[in-house]
Amino acid sequence: MKFFVDTADVDAIRELNDLGFCDGVTTNPSLIAKSGRDILEVTKEICDLVDGPVSAEVVALDSDTMIAEGRKLAKIADNVVIKLPLTLDGLKACKVLSGEGHKINVTLCFSANQALLAAKAGATYISPFIGRLDDINIDGLDLIEDIRTIYDNYGYETEILAASIRTVNHISDCAKIGADVITAPANVIKAMANHVLTDKGLAGFVKDIKAAGIKIL
Ligand code: E4P
Repeated sequence: MKFFVDTADVDAIRELNDLGFCDGVTTNPSLIAKSGRDILEVTKEICDLVDGPVSAEVVALDSDTMIAEGRKLAKIADNVVIKLPLTLDGLKACKVLSGEGHKINVTLCFSANQALLAAKAGATYISPFIGRLDDINIDGLDLIEDIRTIYDNYGYETEILAASIRTVNHISDCAKIGADVITAPANVIKAMANHVLTDKGLAGFVKDIKAAGIKIL
């Protein structure tokens, strides 16, 4: 399973990249706004830092302007993935830009039917938002499962990029279902290392090390 980091915070990306936990990056307009930086400048810096795909999202709502913005974003670096919203205009832009050989991440997916259309439009990635579905009492993981079934039924190569990940359990559940990629905030990915029994066990070892004066170096 590939791990993308869902942020435009370069320091957070660098930390996870150094740990080997950053196979790519996703950004969105809200994350760019939070960084307080220019979209073209920060996207370039992230692309230089990370070997894997970096999703950069268009801001227009009509397909013609999305296509122009997508072409401009793609010029930033070879690893840019153009992120488009799941609207009919976004799908139209997806069809055109994927036809030109660009990699596309279709975002804001909340239904299996939307995911089916994105695959038919040539999306490289589909981003179903788990957490935002959970927020309205719909199980986001059911959507990941449905898309997995549909894509496998027909051999679609579009990768399922589980997004809007809020908890560590979302990540293990997505792995069990067979999502190709998860994108999560850096703190959620780092929290995967935590376990209360690890902390308790280590505290016991530290006590015994001190008591016995065990030294290696
Ligand atoms: C995905 O590409 C989005 O950037 C992101 O996962 C949205 O997450 P949120 O619902 O926590 O804002």
